[in-house]
Parts: sequence; C-alpha cells; structure tokens
Amino acid sequence: ETIEWDPEDAGKSGYDHYMLKEIHEQPTAIRKCLRERVNELEGSVGVEELSELECDGPVQFVACGTSYHAALYGARLLRERGIRAQCFLASEYDVGMVPVSSDTLVVGVTQSGETADTMSALRAANRSGATTLALTNVVGSSAARECDHVMYIRAGPEIGVAATKTFASQQVALAMLSSVLSEESSMEFVERLRDLPDQIQQVLDGSQARGVAEAYEDSDAYFFIGRGYNAPVALEGALKMKEITYKHAEGFAAGELKHGPLALVTEKTPVFAMLTGSDISKTLGNVKEVEARSAPVVAVTDSPDTVSRYVDHVLEVPSAGSRFTPILANIQLQLVSYWVANRMGRSIDKPRNLAKSVTVE
Ligand code: G6P
Repeated sequence: ETIEWDPEDAGKSGYDHYMLKEIHEQPTAIRKCLRERVNELEGSVGVEELSELECDGPVQFVACGTSYHAALYGARLLRERGIRAQCFLASEYDVGMVPVSSDTLVVGVTQSGETADTMSALRAANRSGATTLALTNVVGSSAARECDHVMYIRAGPEIGVAATKTFASQQVALAMLSSVLSEESSMEFVERLRDLPDQIQQVLDGSQARGVAEAYEDSDAYFFIGRGYNAPVALEGALKMKEITYKHAEGFAAGELKHGPLALVTEKTPVFAMLTGSDISKTLGNVKEVEARSAPVVAVTDSPDTVSRYVDHVLEVPSAGSRFTPILANIQLQLVSYWVANRMGRSIDKPRNLAKSVTVE
C-alpha cells in the first residue's frame, strides 16, 4: 500500500492554502521580528544591523506593490517622530527630479529583495551618493547586497504570491526603524509592540471575516477607506482583494471618497471602513455618505460600541493605539479577501498573471 504524499500539501501544515497558513503565522513572524530588538525593561529599541547607521537628513522610501503600502505606513511613522520622510513608487523614482544628497537615506522596502523596479531605484540612489538601506526578508538578496545597510524583517519564507505576513513584519520593522532613526522610544511604545503578536492571535481566533465574505461574495466591487495610518491599509485591503479574487476593488484615503469615487458607490458595492483610533468621527462622516447611496458598510474597528449602529457588519480588533491598531485591521481584510477567493474557487496561492517577485522593469 502506498500513501499519497504531496510535498506541496505537507508544507501547508493542514491549511488549504499557503496564504491562510501565512496569515496564521503572523503572531510568530512578529515575535521573530521583535526578538532581541526591543528591551521591555528599558523601554528601548535597538536593531543590531543598524548600529552603524547614521542619519540626520531626509528619508526617501522606494517600493512596489504591498511593500509600497508598508512604506506609506512607515513614512508616516517617521514623520510623526519629526523626520522628513517621503514615499515613492520605485518605478516612478527619479533621482534627477527629487533632491538626493549625501545626507539622504533611501530605504528600499522589498520582501524578496529582488524586485527590478526597486533595485533600479536603489542603484540610482547609490550613484547619487545617498546612504541606502534595504528592508527585506531575504538574507543575501540583491537589495541586501546593493545597499549600505540592511535590516531583516525575519518573516520566514512566504510562498503565497499575495504578501501577507511579510507586510505585517515590514510594518513592525518600520516601527522599530522609526524609533532607531529618531532615537526616541518609550515604555508604552515597546509594550504596544510586545503585545501585537497576542493581539493578532486574538483577531485570528475571533474573526467574523468568513461570514462577511459569504455575505458579499457576489458583489460587483469592493471599496476600502481609511485615514491616517489606516489609509495605506485601505490600499492594501483593495490590492489583496484584486490579486486573489480578480474582482474590482479600490482603496482610498477616506477623505477622497467624495472627490470622485463616490460616483461608483451603489447598493452592490460594499464599503470596508477602517474605524480605529482618533479619526473615527471624520471617517464616520464618510460612512454616512456611502450609506446614503445604500451601500452596505463593514466597519473594521476597535470601538464597536461607537460605530455598530451606523454599519451593517463589524469586524472587531483589539485596541493597540493609533499607530498599531491598523496592523490588526489589515489582518481582518486579509481574511475577508481570502474567504471571498476561497468561495469563488480561485487559485489563491498562484493568482493568474502574477509572480512572487517581478524581475523586469
Ligand atoms: C510582486 C508581488 C507583490 C509584491 C511586489 C513587491 O508584484 O506580486 O505581492 O508586493 O512584487 O515585491 P517585493 O518583493 O519587492 O516586496
């Protein structure tokens, strides 16, 4: 008697897809990312690889796809700490058009470390005399070799083409980078980072995302809105949905909805609203605008008592402060996309037309 044994399936540890497995690996990935980098007794952050990094000048992020969304999130973390930080799509980065000088730090955010657009932006930055830093998952990758400095996100191998755990690890690594560059930390900051893995586990254990996916699997399109730290999460929520369901999805900074996209909103287009932190009341205003057009609204929120009467569904997340609750909100969106794609029978781990790392410009 022979036992059928498929090494592909064995790698999935009982999950139907690598993507779902990797979504569930996020608590472990974040623990690894934080290990020996945060000091809970002192409330300090220290990244060994960055001990030689000196930076007093502006920071420019270059990245593509999901990594670009992480970079948008990271740039905001830096700006909150008083560091000048800008974000560029790597394919649009033009050192001739932006001032780059020897005091500029150019950070390539790339999980694979091989993306051609990001590599060419990093090479251009190096030629211009900037200091370069690769934020990557892959030891010895092209980006790691090209840059003056490298910080590893330590997410472990990611097989699913749609990035999940690497995005969360990038967000956490960028939070640590913001502390290293600003030389600022606090007990609260470190405790919030430390609590993230358990909070992610709570989201995974209690998520109602599957039910929401079932309710809206037949929708024409999906919209995602959020402001502040939630704006990049809205973009990422839409990208994930497009990648694995092949359905129309768009993400917007919540305030932009009324400047055009609102014309697309109907009773057949559910709107996912990130309602966390201190921006809830403004974003609730946008929620009312879409409800007036009869669109169903799904709130991803740490304040269900405040928002539930305004929305059709609530996906709850624990509160992790204004900076980090959006990391938890994103996990709910990953699960919604996964379950919509699963219901549709899509090729979730290898979506059509997409590659894990894109080595052409
Ligand atoms: C490809 C992948 C995306 C990824 C992007 C950037 O397009 O399909 O999921 O976000 O590349 O990849 P990187 O390895 O640079 O983070």
